Amino acid sequence: MTADWTAIEALPATKLVDLFDQDSNRLSMLSLDVAGIHFDWSKTHLTKDAVTAFEALAKAQGLAAKREALFSGAHINVTEDRAVEHTAERGEGAPDSVARARAFHQRMRTLIDAIEAEALGPIRHILHVGIGGSALGPDLLIDALGREDKRYDVAIVANIDGVALEDAFARFDPAATLLVVASKTFTTTETILNATSALQWMTEHGVEDPYGKVIALTAAPDKAVEWGVDETRVLPFSESVGGRYSLWSSIGFPAALALGWDAFEELLEGAGEMDRHFRLTALHENAPALAAFADLYYTQVRHAETRATFAYDQRLKLLPSYLQQLEMESNGKGVTVDGDPVGRPTAPITWGGVGTEAQHAVFQLLHQGTHLVPVEFVAVIEGGDTLAEEHHRQLLLNAFAQGAALMKGKQVSDPARSYTGDRPSSTLLLDQLDPRTLGALIAFYEQRTFVSAVLLGINAFDQFGVELGKEMAKAAGEGGQSFDPSTEDLIARAFG
Ligand code: F6P
Repeated sequence: MTADWTAIEALPATKLVDLFDQDSNRLSMLSLDVAGIHFDWSKTHLTKDAVTAFEALAKAQGLAAKREALFSGAHINVTEDRAVEHTAERGEGAPDSVARARAFHQRMRTLIDAIEAEALGPIRHILHVGIGGSALGPDLLIDALGREDKRYDVAIVANIDGVALEDAFARFDPAATLLVVASKTFTTTETILNATSALQWMTEHGVEDPYGKVIALTAAPDKAVEWGVDETRVLPFSESVGGRYSLWSSIGFPAALALGWDAFEELLEGAGEMDRHFRLTALHENAPALAAFADLYYTQVRHAETRATFAYDQRLKLLPSYLQQLEMESNGKGVTVDGDPVGRPTAPITWGGVGTEAQHAVFQLLHQGTHLVPVEFVAVIEGGDTLAEEHHRQLLLNAFAQGAALMKGKQVSDPARSYTGDRPSSTLLLDQLDPRTLGALIAFYEQRTFVSAVLLGINAFDQFGVELGKEMAKAAGEGGQSFDPSTEDLIARAFG
């Protein structure tokens, strides 16, 4: 059935400043607090009527039933006939799946205890090789939370470009390095080649039993064993946990090791709290749902092609790249769950950066450019630095002022110095950046992505769009297949 967007498309295009004037209750209607995060959508064009129209669309699209299906382990990833069970990793899901996730976590904890007791010799460096969902999550967690008290030096190496691996080699002592190979499928070219080269580096530098220092994180344990990892050092996770949703599983191992087990558990608890909020709260007070409504309003009604997230906190500088995979790999789809053309824009292009740096680079376009870019500010009340308070005060003031300026604009006689205003933004203000709050924040983004997918009628959980390029790279490497003249020419120039 085609979703009816008529009521949403017919919403009046009232200016943001007028919306505030018209409704003294606007701020409280469009802001809420969940799991240590204050959400404010009042500077978006969402209104009571808009939320009601989206609630009706959600009802027509069966969001409540699909949300239950997500949490109950039904096979909602229809194209791969799989359940979608990352929430079970944080205790919210089908009882069997939650129990299995707990058992896998326990296995991970036991191995961490053994590493800390130096069962694998003295370890100071963790070389984690993995790509996409097998890298971005742990990288974000460690960068965000691991500034103080980090127990190990961690390098997360994703790119097949050997420069990335050599940068890590230059920093690490091979004798004190643990090699962590993270791959859900254990077939990814980049990861297997990087792992092989890392083993070679260890061997060349006199490590006697390099395989004895390898940990595998995977949903394909047999493949890891076949590759040479001892079964006792394989940390499995469920096939039903998608790659870009996997930081809660054993893929989070380097974070659990570097930040400590308690921190990892708190991360899961924070995510679980957001899951319960998402599952049990009416949509007009539901953070992931309201965020998705705003996203959809701008992509579908105002034709915004992008959304920008700016972390006004250096510790969250990797958040925009994490979100790019989560949102674009999930919802960058062209067909519905039934295989029909979706017929409307799907995921916006997610981009962003870190404030205040971005203000001096890309904000010109946001304030005066011709593209409509809904902006999301993410800031933390408690700063991460120990310098004069003025640093953090200025950081937060800048985040808040940018949102105000985008909305208000400024009219002067000189057009080049005028600002149209009426440019939307939302703000996520965290009390503090601790594992629990970060877990809730990431789970919020996951569930928001899910709501958008359901309202668009697409499957957020497959990613066939990444396959064709991989196949063609393989074919080009194997030779014997001809390509278009341009590609043939490039191959000839590079390899003769
Ligand atoms: O190519 C895309 C992708 O499949 C992502 O979805 C995934 O996170 C990444 O590759 C890595 O896959 P794996 O964990 O199987 O190595």
